[in-house]
Amino acid sequence: MTTYDIALIGFGGVNRTLAELIATRGETLHTELGFGLRVVAITDLRLGSLVQAEGIDLSIPLNLGGGGETFAEYGGSADTNNESVIRNCTADIICEATFTNPDDGEPAVSHVRWALESGKSVCTTNKGPVALRGAELTSLAEQNGVHFEFEGAVMSGTPVIRLAKKMFAGLELKGFEGILNGTSNYVLGRMEAGLGLEAAIGEAQELGYAEANPSADIEGYDVQLKVLILANELLDAGMELQDVQRQGISAVTPENIRKAAREGRRWKLVGAARRNLDGSVTAGVSPVALPLDHGLAGISGATNAVSFDTDLLGAVTVSGPGAGRVETAYALLSDIIAMHAVRTGAAANA
Ligand SMILES: NC(=O)c1ccc[n+]([C@@H]2O[C@H](COP(=O)([O-])OP(=O)(O)OC[C@H]3O[C@@H](n4cnc5c(N)ncnc54)[C@H](OP(=O)(O)O)[C@@H]3O)[C@@H](O)[C@H]2O)c1
Repeated sequence: MTTYDIALIGFGGVNRTLAELIATRGETLHTELGFGLRVVAITDLRLGSLVQAEGIDLSIPLNLGGGGETFAEYGGSADTNNESVIRNCTADIICEATFTNPDDGEPAVSHVRWALESGKSVCTTNKGPVALRGAELTSLAEQNGVHFEFEGAVMSGTPVIRLAKKMFAGLELKGFEGILNGTSNYVLGRMEAGLGLEAAIGEAQELGYAEANPSADIEGYDVQLKVLILANELLDAGMELQDVQRQGISAVTPENIRKAAREGRRWKLVGAARRNLDGSVTAGVSPVALPLDHGLAGISGATNAVSFDTDLLGAVTVSGPGAGRVETAYALLSDIIAMHAVRTGAAANA
């Protein structure tokens, strides 16, 4: 049976959870999926790097973290050495889960590039490289005969990108609109219940939905990246970040919320893109007071949803979690499953 060797770049919430899934459910996955996973390298800013071609005993990284220990105490290094590790390790697949940098996507763009150049497939949950360098990296993967998968970059493990690419074959996708940020959706819901914006944000922070600096969620920057990814991947829009208009929810007032309620409407932060008659695509993020019978109006709390407008089926809406470390680690697993399906399908058809 096939075993894929993987390297984890960044060992925070998502990749640590993927390691936990492999450690605790590896045997079951092996039986169910027809392949095994073995971690041969890990790099992390705080922990350093650990490379073991024979497979890392995952109890070591999973028990590290609190006391300032690094991989240096376990035969690794206190430095990350990302380029050297990514290029030279024996991994088949690199799982990139470092922080999202919305300005230039670095260092994740370089991580992905080094991997693809050295003939390794990549799966990532990081929006930066996908939104800002998606076309270039996809083409680099093709040139090198490897995979570049990124289901978790939009709506974590809820299948959206692959579903639309694979399951809408034969349909024309005219556009999409979605609630793609759980924090802003939660905040709008709490404002509807009577809280002011600041109080609702504070509550979201206490619950761990919102970051200490909530602007990426509240001002729509996070949704802007996701709309860019979906527009380019699904509508072949060829857009750059500045082509996606962005307005967040900070200007939505309690009076706006009350007025909408009186009119049978509900405010949502909607990220959308649509193909125009001339073939061009218009994309943007803005708060919209949706009528209550709209498919996205009932999406509450931190849940996300995207509604695809297709010619033969009309609206097809997918809703589910948009974040969470388990949900997002599952996205990486689903990427690896997709790679395996292509490889085994290709072998079967040879
Ligand atoms: N968690 C979610 O719900 C979710 C959902 C969808 C997408 N994502 C995306 O998935 C990615 C990972 O998320 P996460 O929640 O796991 O984030 P996280 O907990 O902040 O983990 C990121 C890890 O990467 C490490 N790191 C940063 N720069 C590095 C570098 N140059 N080399 C090696 N390691 C580096 C960080 O180390 P330090 O802690 O020392 O900085 C941290 O351990 C992010 O891009 C995020 O936007 C997350």
